[in-house]
Amino acid sequence: MSKKRVFLTRRLHEFALKELRKKYSIEVHSGKIPIPREKLLKKIANVEGLICFPYDKIDKEVIDAAKNLHAISTYSVGYDHIDINYAKKRGIQIGYTPDVLTDATADLAITLMLDLLRRVTEGDRIIRRGDWKVIYGAYDYVGVDISKKTLGIVGLGRIGRVVAQRAKAFGMNVMYYNRNRLSKSVEQKLGVKYSTLNSLFSKSDVVSLHVPHNSQTNEMVNLSLLKKMKKNSYIVNTARGKIINESDLIFALKKKLIAGAALDVFTNEPIDSKNPLLKLENVVLAPHIGSSTAETRAKMAEITVKNLNRGIAGKNPIYSVK
Ligand code: DGY
Repeated sequence: MSKKRVFLTRRLHEFALKELRKKYSIEVHSGKIPIPREKLLKKIANVEGLICFPYDKIDKEVIDAAKNLHAISTYSVGYDHIDINYAKKRGIQIGYTPDVLTDATADLAITLMLDLLRRVTEGDRIIRRGDWKVIYGAYDYVGVDISKKTLGIVGLGRIGRVVAQRAKAFGMNVMYYNRNRLSKSVEQKLGVKYSTLNSLFSKSDVVSLHVPHNSQTNEMVNLSLLKKMKKNSYIVNTARGKIINESDLIFALKKKLIAGAALDVFTNEPIDSKNPLLKLENVVLAPHIGSSTAETRAKMAEITVKNLNRGIAGKNPIYSVK
């Protein structure tokens, strides 16, 4: 019997490719990233399995082009790049990689928060520009304390909860907003207080976003919410760029309606060289590296392969998009 075919829109770890080659006839896209649309449409036509990445748009047109597709396995926890409803209608299994990247992503949210409040990257820019004068005076280049500040977490799922634990270790007070309030006992265990979204934005010193991107969360952070924030407060986003209306955020930062932002994700990635965020001193930027540690990326590859195997066999992936 001939091997089933699997297409990968970019390279995975060698150990993962080796596993895949044992079972399937695989083809890995090389060259321009993300894969050009025309090539994706052509390559997906006859395969049974697809391994994709967050920058690949797997929409209705792509799914329609894939006549034999049984499984899509995305190398990410986010799946807003896939038309899930349409793929489900076609009976395609969809796997993703939560859990294994929770610690790494939570660590990055905390890293960005510390950086922003203590102005580390800003200082790095000052030094590299050759502008480091004698700055040790009472008012020179001061950041703010982390401990005793209030962190408002939007979305207390897997990653949000770990961020809460980390923040408590820094002596922060933690409040959260979630679509569904957690039970009192879980709140007590985590040491977090529930808040409405409006109240969280008005009371927090730092807001950190941990919701998935979907039709309900698209641009949920807009000017009206940003205006509720304290002038000396900050926002951190390691979830998805489109959760924030980026123009509203830029306006709020320029007008000093808030003190700063640390962003790992953006409306368009990579960001345009003319994006005003690049000119703002009160902003820390990261190139979408939430899950980007060697250990985590290897675990993601392992899960991606396992999800694909199960999906192609007509079973629910280990982590199946519901
Ligand atoms: C994810 O896995 O969704 C991370 O944001 C990396 O893309």
